[in-house]
Amino acid sequence: MVSAQHYFDQLMFGVAPYLALITFFLGTIQRYRAQAFSYSSLSSQFLENKRHFWGMVPLHYGILVVLGGHVVAFMFPREVLAWNGHPIRLYILEISALVFGLLTLLGLVMALVRRLVYRKIRTVTSLADIVLYALLLVQVGSGVYVAVMCSWGSSWFAASATPYLWSIVTLDPDISYVLAMPFAVKLHIVNAFLVIGFFPFTRLVHVLVIPNPYLWRKPQVVRWNRGPGSGA
Ligand code: HEM
Repeated sequence: MVSAQHYFDQLMFGVAPYLALITFFLGTIQRYRAQAFSYSSLSSQFLENKRHFWGMVPLHYGILVVLGGHVVAFMFPREVLAWNGHPIRLYILEISALVFGLLTLLGLVMALVRRLVYRKIRTVTSLADIVLYALLLVQVGSGVYVAVMCSWGSSWFAASATPYLWSIVTLDPDISYVLAMPFAVKLHIVNAFLVIGFFPFTRLVHVLVIPNPYLWRKPQVVRWNRGPGSGA
């Protein structure tokens, strides 16, 4: 007899990724068609600048490198495993990944503290922001936890998570790769689907606006123009 656990696993790892991707694509397209000008991070830098800097800079550089690492392990698993064949290279990769993971976590916590501490920033914090912060904390927190507690993640990501992700992409989901993984890894994976599905309803849409010169342009202070009758 097929157990309830089996259906639950199928739902979490075999169905949820597709629900997330469908919501992501339909949601981002619909939002762009209906409110193209809402494609913004809705900067609050002009309300408070110093803590904004100390949150946003580590958060963005950290997450770019970490997600870049996920993409490399997804696209080139054999090369990653070959690189990790020498212990010294494995240590270099793992320690670098952990440094950038911790940088991301630090930036996220700083950004959250800023939102909680400053009344002005709390005022411009929406329900979507609160849900987003909760999801990102679970995502980054579980990622760093996995990196610390489940050794040599860069190797087993390439050996197990990558074939699972490719099975999703090729529309032939094989969830056997993830079933034996520890709870924290499963949480990290399912929460990633939540982040992806919730993405179109949050300020994260700003990452889709290309060109995206935030990382190399001169710093700028953004002011909202919300005068009476401006319609904004
Ligand atoms: C929204 C998408 C995701 C975000 C923001 C994210 C974020 C992170 C972060 C911050 C880390 C810590 C990096 C470190 O300190 O080494 C991490 C590690 C990890 N993530 Fe993700 N992740 C995402 C999606 C996924 C998915 C879909 C999978 C697998 C199917 C995955 C598997 C892993 C693994 C195995 C590690 C440990 C790597 C290691 O030990 O070197 N992640 N992730």
